[in-house]
Amino acid sequence: MKLELLLDEVPRHAVDPARRALLDAALAALDQAHAPYSGFRVAAAVRLANDTVVVGTNQENASYPVGICAERVALSAASSIAPGEAVTAMAVAYRPPSGPAKVPLAPCGMCRQALMEQHARQQSPLELIMAAEEGDVWLLADARDLLPLAFTPSDLRG
Ligand code: THU
Repeated sequence: MKLELLLDEVPRHAVDPARRALLDAALAALDQAHAPYSGFRVAAAVRLANDTVVVGTNQENASYPVGICAERVALSAASSIAPGEAVTAMAVAYRPPSGPAKVPLAPCGMCRQALMEQHARQQSPLELIMAAEEGDVWLLADARDLLPLAFTPSDLRG
């Protein structure tokens, strides 16, 4: 078996308007992050099948492990606001403590597992759009490709 990551690296100006709008929603939400401990701001914007956009930002806590990543905040908010509505795309943006960056950020391992769960729920692709505040944009047609050989609901059935 050969596993390949089908990631497209696209110049920012070449990103189509719909994807750009979702990325802009994530970029605009960076200022809403609660990241006083790491200073590392992350924002995720998800587009639902009904075209609603829901954003989430990382929410840190004085008890550090309690903090939650932006991607899982966005998925949880979307599922609470519009349960059963498929997530067609997620844009992820970030700003490190040093200021605007150029290289995109891919979701952490725990968020990849949460994205897998969303994929299992909706049974349809969930596109990922990843970018810093400058530089190229990474496009991945389906977030599930980020977690090969994943543990999924079907594994629970044996
Ligand atoms: N973080 C996210 O929100 N998403 C990721 O994919 C990576 C990390 C947050 C968690 C923590 O608040 C800060 O970034 C530094 O790890």
